[in-house]
Amino acid sequence: MRRGLIGGNWKMNGSREFVAAFASRWTELHATPVDDVFICPPIGLFDALSRALPHVVLGAQNVYLEASGAYTGEHSADMVSDLGARFALVGHSERRQLFGEDDSTVAGKFLASQRAGVTPVLCVGETLDERRAGAAADVVARQIDAVVAAAGIGAFNDAVVAYEPVWAIGTGETATPAEAQEMHEMIRERLTKSDQNVGDAIRILYGGSVKADNAALLFAEPDIDGGLVGGASLDAAELNTIRQSLPEH
Ligand code: PGA
Repeated sequence: MRRGLIGGNWKMNGSREFVAAFASRWTELHATPVDDVFICPPIGLFDALSRALPHVVLGAQNVYLEASGAYTGEHSADMVSDLGARFALVGHSERRQLFGEDDSTVAGKFLASQRAGVTPVLCVGETLDERRAGAAADVVARQIDAVVAAAGIGAFNDAVVAYEPVWAIGTGETATPAEAQEMHEMIRERLTKSDQNVGDAIRILYGGSVKADNAALLFAEPDIDGGLVGGASLDAAELNTIRQSLPEH
């Protein structure tokens, strides 16, 4: 049985004032700490969020693939670990599209995260053009295979995958539960072919306009183990409702 998981990706949003308001709303909603949610604030807000919510599970939105050195503006996986991150997104489509990250860079970041003891959340997904061309499954398979080739299938024992069709991110357009399930099943089968246990156990999150009102139907699909939530994660109450849509609630 895979435990459901929700990641909140704040992207480049927030301020210390925002963190204070989010934290007080989150605290009202949770008398006890919850560990089926991790939140990825911008690095500059890690400290504010972890002070305001000492039990919150933190994730980084990105890490650099080298451990230290002359890489102005970057943060290593060790650094985000030192700040308390337990998860790190690698290969988010905005990183791939806006910052030119290719499969080999993403594989390097995946490995760097694991070396630092931070669980990588490998983000994969096709663009609208790729879907229209009938290439969605091939693109996602290639993105998965590149990391399996670099890290080995065993590395997926401590990893999460997030399937996020690029055309559904921040657009308000969600893949239907059936469309998402088809891709999740393909990803799981691909991993299962290399290692049955890894395929059975790995958590595959869906991302792309997950909201309070569509989460339950997505999470009801057999291969969708939770969500990676962007816009809706900025609202503590909505993020909580999405969390409560996980089947075990
Ligand atoms: P969205 O973003 O929920 O705002 O579509 C998801 C993501 O980019 O992880």
